[in-house]
Amino acid sequence: MSVGGPGRDDVRPPTVAGPGGTDRRAVRAAVFLGPAEGLRIEELLLDPPGPGEVLVRILASGVCHSDLHVVDGDWERPVPVVLGHEGAGIVEAVGRGVGARPGDPHVGDLVVLAWTAPCGMCPACARGEGFLCLDPRGADHRRAADDVRLRRSDGTPIGAYSGIGTLATHQVVAVEAAIPVDSALPADQAALLGCAVATGVGAVTRTARVAPGESVVVIGLGGVGLSAVMGAVLAGAGLIVAVDRVAAKLERARDLGATEVVLAGDATATRATILDLLPGGADHVLEAIGLAATAELALELVRPGGTVTLVGMTPQGIRAGVDVYAFVDRAIRLLGSNYGSAIPAETFPELARHAVAGRLPVGRLVEERIRLEDLPDAFGAMRRGDGARRVVVFEPPAT
Ligand SMILES: NC(=O)c1ccc[n+]([C@@H]2O[C@H](COP(=O)([O-])OP(=O)(O)OC[C@H]3O[C@@H](n4cnc5c(N)ncnc54)[C@H](O)[C@@H]3O)[C@@H](O)[C@H]2O)c1
Ligand SMILES: [Zn+2]
Ligand SMILES: [Zn+2]
Repeated sequence: MSVGGPGRDDVRPPTVAGPGGTDRRAVRAAVFLGPAEGLRIEELLLDPPGPGEVLVRILASGVCHSDLHVVDGDWERPVPVVLGHEGAGIVEAVGRGVGARPGDPHVGDLVVLAWTAPCGMCPACARGEGFLCLDPRGADHRRAADDVRLRRSDGTPIGAYSGIGTLATHQVVAVEAAIPVDSALPADQAALLGCAVATGVGAVTRTARVAPGESVVVIGLGGVGLSAVMGAVLAGAGLIVAVDRVAAKLERARDLGATEVVLAGDATATRATILDLLPGGADHVLEAIGLAATAELALELVRPGGTVTLVGMTPQGIRAGVDVYAFVDRAIRLLGSNYGSAIPAETFPELARHAVAGRLPVGRLVEERIRLEDLPDAFGAMRRGDGARRVVVFEPPAT
C-alpha cells in the first residue's frame, strides 16, 4: 500500500499478529523500487527482533549522496529496498542474547546505526579494519530469506539498505549495527555521525592521519566534505582550503573552520588559485565529490611526498587517469577511504563525545529538517549542490 501526507508520524504504529504468534509492527518507509519506478513511501510490516537483533525507533535519518547514487542508477542495488544509511534512534526492544556483552545497547538507549557492522571475527576485523569486514552483519542489504525483516502486507520481502535502511519509522538491525552514544546529543546530529561525520572526519583523522600544522585541501563540500573540514580543524591542521562550485558551501566551510575557500570553475583556473595559496602543493588533498576529474585534480594539488585521499565515490566502472611518471617521481601517496576507517563501536561514541563537548559542531551541517514525503525534493536539492545535510525527522509517537 502506498501512503502519503503529513501528520502520519504522529500515529503510534499498530502491531499486527503475524504467523507463529509474532507481533509484526506497521512501519512507514521510503522504498526504492528501481531506477525507472523510483521511490515510494509505503506501509510495511516489521518482524520483532530475533536473537542478536534490536528494534530501533528511528528518530532521524540524514540524506546522503550514497542514497542518491542508488536512486540515480549510478550503483546497482537489489530492489525493492528501504533506503537510508545515516540514522539514529531509540532502542525499543532487544532480541535474545542482546545485553550480555559490554557495550551492547539496552532498551531506551540512543543508538547511531552503522552501515558496516563488523563481524569481529574475520581476518579484516582481526587486523582492526572492521570497515573492511568480509562478513558484515546486514550484508547484501538484508535480502537473504532468513535475514529479511520487512515485508509488504502481501508478503513481498523488502530489503534494508546496508542492513539498516534508516529512512523508515522503525527498523530491526543486528546488534553490531546499533551503537549506543551519549543521549545528550540531539537525534539529528547523532544521525549524521552514522555516515557523513564518520566518513569525513575519519578520512582526515584515521585514514590520512593529518598531523598538527599540516595543510589540507578538501574538494567538495557536501555533508562528507564539510565533515572533512571539521576533521581537519580537530586534527589541528594549519592551512585548510575548502573548494566547491557552489558559493554558499564556501561560507558554510568557513563557518566550520576553513582558513581559505576557493570557488571551483574551470579546472586550470581552480588549480592555479589553489596552488597560489599553497606553493609547492598541499600536504593532504581529499576528494569528497566522486568525480574522475576532481580525483585527477587532487593528484596535481599535492606536494611531493604528500597524500591524496579519495572519499567521494563515482558511478560504478568510472576510471581516472594518473600521470604515472609524475606520480612516482613525486612519490605521491594515494589512499581510498572507506567509512573514514571507522570501527563503529569505538568511533561513534568518540565522535559523539567530541560533538557534545563542542569540538565537532555537527549541528552546523544540518541544512533543514524534513519529512519522509520531502525526500524527492531533498534529492533534487542535492543534485544541484543546494544546501548541506537535509535530515528526515520522525515525530515521537503519540502516547
Ligand atoms: N568513502 C565513503 O565511505 C563514503 C561514505 C559516504 C559518502 N561517500 C561519497 O562521498 C561523496 C559525497 O557525498 P555527500 O553526501 O557529501 O554529497 P553532496 O552531494 O552533499 O556533496 C557534493 C558536493 O560536491 C560539490 N561539487 C559537485 N561537483 C563539483 C565540482 N565539479 N567541483 C567542485 N565541487 C563540486 C557539490 O556542490 C556538493 O557541495 C558521494 O560520492 C558519496 O557517495 C563516500
Ligand atoms: Zn552515506
Ligand atoms: Zn569481520
